Amino acid sequence: MLKVGVLISGGGTNLQSLIDAQKDNKLNAEISCVISNRKDAYGLTRAKENDIPAYFLSKKDYNSNEDYDREIVRIFKENGVSLIVLAGYLNILTDFILNEFEDRIINIHPSLLPLFGGKGFYGEHVHKAVLESGVKISGATVHFVKSGVDEGPILIQESVPVYYSDSIETLQKRVLEIEHKLLPKAVYLISKDCVKINGKKVEVLEDCK
Ligand code: GRF
Repeated sequence: MLKVGVLISGGGTNLQSLIDAQKDNKLNAEISCVISNRKDAYGLTRAKENDIPAYFLSKKDYNSNEDYDREIVRIFKENGVSLIVLAGYLNILTDFILNEFEDRIINIHPSLLPLFGGKGFYGEHVHKAVLESGVKISGATVHFVKSGVDEGPILIQESVPVYYSDSIETLQKRVLEIEHKLLPKAVYLISKDCVKINGKKVEVLEDCK
Protein backbone atom coordinates (compact mmCIF):
# COMPACT_ATOMS: atom_id res chain seq x y z
CA MET A 1 0.00 0.00 0.00
CA LEU A 2 1.40 3.42 -0.99
CA LYS A 3 2.22 5.42 2.14
CA VAL A 4 1.73 9.18 1.91
CA GLY A 5 3.27 11.93 4.03
CA VAL A 6 1.44 15.27 3.93
CA LEU A 7 2.98 18.72 4.53
CA ILE A 8 0.60 21.51 5.57
CA SER A 9 0.65 25.10 6.81
CA GLY A 10 -3.02 25.98 7.17
CA GLY A 11 -6.64 24.89 7.37
CA GLY A 12 -5.98 21.51 5.77
CA THR A 13 -9.06 21.22 3.54
CA ASN A 14 -6.91 19.48 0.94
CA LEU A 15 -5.64 17.11 3.63
CA GLN A 16 -9.29 16.49 4.56
CA SER A 17 -10.05 15.54 0.95
CA LEU A 18 -7.30 12.89 1.17
CA ILE A 19 -8.60 11.63 4.55
CA ASP A 20 -12.14 11.38 3.16
CA ALA A 21 -10.94 9.57 0.03
CA GLN A 22 -8.98 7.08 2.16
CA LYS A 23 -12.07 6.44 4.32
CA ASP A 24 -14.12 5.86 1.15
CA ASN A 25 -11.44 3.43 -0.16
CA LYS A 26 -10.89 5.71 -3.15
CA LEU A 27 -7.28 6.73 -2.41
CA ASN A 28 -5.57 3.32 -2.70
CA ALA A 29 -3.03 4.73 -0.28
CA GLU A 30 -2.52 5.31 3.43
CA ILE A 31 -1.83 8.72 4.96
CA SER A 32 1.04 7.79 7.28
CA CYS A 33 1.65 11.15 8.92
CA VAL A 34 1.19 14.90 8.67
CA ILE A 35 3.79 17.57 9.35
CA SER A 36 3.07 21.29 9.72
CA ASN A 37 5.42 24.27 9.93
CA ARG A 38 2.64 26.17 11.73
CA LYS A 39 1.59 25.18 15.27
CA ASP A 40 -1.89 26.66 14.74
CA ALA A 41 -2.58 24.85 11.46
CA TYR A 42 -6.08 23.39 11.77
CA GLY A 43 -4.90 20.58 9.52
CA LEU A 44 -3.04 19.17 12.58
CA THR A 45 -6.41 18.88 14.33
CA ARG A 46 -7.91 17.15 11.30
CA ALA A 47 -5.06 14.62 11.39
CA LYS A 48 -5.39 13.95 15.13
CA GLU A 49 -9.19 13.55 14.82
CA ASN A 50 -8.48 10.77 12.31
CA ASP A 51 -5.73 9.05 14.35
CA ILE A 52 -3.02 10.14 11.91
CA PRO A 53 0.36 10.94 13.55
CA ALA A 54 0.69 14.72 13.38
CA TYR A 55 3.83 16.76 14.00
CA PHE A 56 4.51 20.49 14.34
CA LEU A 57 8.13 21.34 13.47
CA SER A 58 9.19 24.85 14.45
CA LYS A 59 11.72 26.50 12.16
CA LYS A 60 13.24 28.11 15.25
CA ASP A 61 14.46 24.69 16.43
CA TYR A 62 16.68 24.19 13.37
CA ASN A 63 19.86 25.95 12.24
CA SER A 64 18.97 25.97 8.55
CA ASN A 65 16.24 25.17 6.06
CA GLU A 66 18.20 22.06 5.11
CA ASP A 67 18.32 20.84 8.72
CA TYR A 68 14.57 21.43 8.88
CA ASP A 69 14.02 19.36 5.76
CA ARG A 70 16.35 16.64 7.08
CA GLU A 71 13.99 16.24 10.06
CA ILE A 72 10.98 16.05 7.72
CA VAL A 73 12.74 13.32 5.71
CA ARG A 74 13.67 11.46 8.92
CA ILE A 75 10.08 11.46 10.18
CA PHE A 76 8.63 10.51 6.81
CA LYS A 77 11.12 7.63 6.33
CA GLU A 78 10.44 6.48 9.91
CA ASN A 79 6.76 6.27 8.89
CA GLY A 80 7.47 4.43 5.61
CA VAL A 81 6.41 7.36 3.42
CA SER A 82 7.15 7.00 -0.33
CA LEU A 83 5.05 9.90 -1.64
CA ILE A 84 5.03 13.42 -0.21
CA VAL A 85 1.98 15.63 -0.79
CA LEU A 86 2.21 19.41 -0.30
CA ALA A 87 -1.30 20.43 0.72
CA GLY A 88 -1.27 24.14 1.41
CA TYR A 89 2.40 24.01 2.51
CA LEU A 90 4.05 27.41 2.31
CA ASN A 91 7.75 26.61 2.79
CA ILE A 92 10.02 26.24 -0.22
CA LEU A 93 11.65 22.80 -0.18
CA THR A 94 15.45 22.56 -0.17
CA ASP A 95 17.38 20.45 -2.67
CA PHE A 96 18.00 17.93 0.12
CA ILE A 97 14.36 16.78 0.31
CA LEU A 98 13.89 17.16 -3.48
CA ASN A 99 16.81 14.74 -3.99
CA GLU A 100 15.72 12.32 -1.26
CA PHE A 101 12.20 12.12 -2.76
CA GLU A 102 13.00 12.81 -6.42
CA ASP A 103 9.83 12.60 -8.54
CA ARG A 104 7.91 11.56 -5.43
CA ILE A 105 6.61 14.97 -4.28
CA ILE A 106 3.38 16.52 -5.59
CA ASN A 107 1.76 19.90 -4.93
CA ILE A 108 -1.74 21.29 -5.41
CA HIS A 109 -1.85 24.83 -6.78
CA PRO A 110 -5.04 26.92 -7.14
CA SER A 111 -4.54 28.06 -10.76
CA LEU A 112 -3.94 26.62 -14.22
CA LEU A 113 -0.13 26.58 -14.16
CA PRO A 114 2.06 27.93 -15.56
CA LEU A 115 -0.27 30.92 -15.28
CA PHE A 116 -0.46 32.64 -11.90
CA GLY A 117 2.26 30.52 -10.31
CA GLY A 118 5.70 31.09 -8.86
CA LYS A 119 7.06 33.20 -6.03
CA GLY A 120 4.34 35.09 -4.15
CA PHE A 121 1.45 33.29 -5.87
CA TYR A 122 -0.21 31.37 -3.04
CA GLY A 123 -3.67 31.29 -1.44
CA GLU A 124 -5.73 34.44 -2.04
CA HIS A 125 -2.88 36.18 -3.91
CA VAL A 126 -3.50 33.76 -6.80
CA HIS A 127 -7.23 34.51 -7.07
CA LYS A 128 -6.65 38.27 -6.71
CA ALA A 129 -4.23 38.19 -9.66
CA VAL A 130 -6.66 36.06 -11.70
CA LEU A 131 -9.52 38.51 -11.14
CA GLU A 132 -7.33 41.52 -11.91
CA SER A 133 -6.15 39.94 -15.16
CA GLY A 134 -9.63 39.57 -16.64
CA VAL A 135 -9.15 35.91 -17.67
CA LYS A 136 -12.37 33.94 -18.11
CA ILE A 137 -11.18 30.60 -16.76
CA SER A 138 -9.09 29.51 -13.81
CA GLY A 139 -8.74 26.15 -12.07
CA ALA A 140 -6.39 23.91 -10.14
CA THR A 141 -3.20 22.02 -10.94
CA VAL A 142 -1.44 19.05 -9.38
CA HIS A 143 2.22 18.96 -10.37
CA PHE A 144 5.40 17.17 -9.38
CA VAL A 145 7.70 19.38 -7.33
CA LYS A 146 11.10 20.31 -8.73
CA SER A 147 13.54 23.05 -7.75
CA GLY A 148 11.61 26.03 -9.21
CA VAL A 149 8.46 27.24 -7.43
CA ASP A 150 5.33 25.76 -9.08
CA GLU A 151 7.41 24.72 -12.12
CA GLY A 152 7.43 20.92 -11.97
CA PRO A 153 5.82 18.60 -14.54
CA ILE A 154 2.02 18.91 -14.52
CA LEU A 155 0.12 15.75 -13.60
CA ILE A 156 -3.53 16.85 -13.81
CA GLN A 157 -5.52 20.08 -14.18
CA GLU A 158 -9.18 21.06 -14.28
CA SER A 159 -10.68 24.45 -15.15
CA VAL A 160 -13.49 26.51 -13.66
CA PRO A 161 -15.24 29.59 -15.12
CA VAL A 162 -14.37 33.05 -13.78
CA TYR A 163 -17.41 35.34 -13.58
CA TYR A 164 -17.31 39.14 -13.82
CA SER A 165 -19.15 39.25 -10.50
CA ASP A 166 -16.62 37.01 -8.75
CA SER A 167 -14.87 38.08 -5.57
CA ILE A 168 -11.67 36.47 -4.30
CA GLU A 169 -13.84 34.40 -1.94
CA THR A 170 -16.31 33.14 -4.57
CA LEU A 171 -13.52 32.20 -6.98
CA GLN A 172 -11.46 30.56 -4.21
CA LYS A 173 -14.47 28.45 -3.18
CA ARG A 174 -15.07 27.30 -6.77
CA VAL A 175 -11.37 26.41 -7.25
CA LEU A 176 -11.11 24.64 -3.87
CA GLU A 177 -13.91 22.28 -4.90
CA ILE A 178 -11.77 21.23 -7.86
CA GLU A 179 -8.64 20.96 -5.70
CA HIS A 180 -10.45 18.56 -3.39
CA LYS A 181 -11.31 16.39 -6.38
CA LEU A 182 -7.91 16.50 -8.15
CA LEU A 183 -5.58 15.82 -5.22
CA PRO A 184 -7.04 12.43 -4.24
CA LYS A 185 -7.25 11.51 -7.94
CA ALA A 186 -3.55 12.35 -8.37
CA VAL A 187 -2.55 10.17 -5.40
CA TYR A 188 -4.71 7.33 -6.73
CA LEU A 189 -3.12 7.52 -10.20
CA ILE A 190 0.36 7.40 -8.67
CA SER A 191 -0.64 4.50 -6.40
CA LYS A 192 -1.72 2.52 -9.48
CA ASP A 193 1.53 3.31 -11.33
CA CYS A 194 -0.50 5.12 -13.98
CA VAL A 195 1.92 8.03 -14.15
CA LYS A 196 5.14 8.40 -16.14
CA ILE A 197 7.31 11.54 -16.00
CA ASN A 198 9.02 12.26 -19.32
CA GLY A 199 11.21 15.32 -18.84
CA LYS A 200 8.92 18.33 -18.36
CA LYS A 201 5.80 16.36 -19.25
CA VAL A 202 3.73 13.68 -17.54
CA GLU A 203 1.98 10.77 -19.28
CA VAL A 204 -1.09 9.36 -17.53
CA LEU A 205 -1.37 5.81 -18.89
CA GLU A 206 -4.86 5.31 -20.28
CA ASP A 207 -5.44 1.63 -19.61
CA CYS A 208 -4.31 1.32 -16.03
CA LYS A 209 -6.83 3.38 -14.06
C1 GRF B 1 -5.38 26.09 -1.14
O1 GRF B 1 -5.82 27.12 -1.97
C2 GRF B 1 -4.35 25.28 -1.90
O2 GRF B 1 -4.50 25.39 -3.29
C3 GRF B 1 -3.08 25.93 -1.56
O3 GRF B 1 -3.22 26.22 -0.17
C4 GRF B 1 -4.59 26.65 0.04
C5 GRF B 1 -5.06 26.19 1.39
O4 GRF B 1 -5.23 24.82 1.38
N1 GRF B 1 -1.98 25.02 -1.87
P1 GRF B 1 -5.75 23.98 2.67
O5 GRF B 1 -7.19 24.38 2.91
O6 GRF B 1 -4.86 24.34 3.83
O7 GRF B 1 -5.62 22.56 2.24
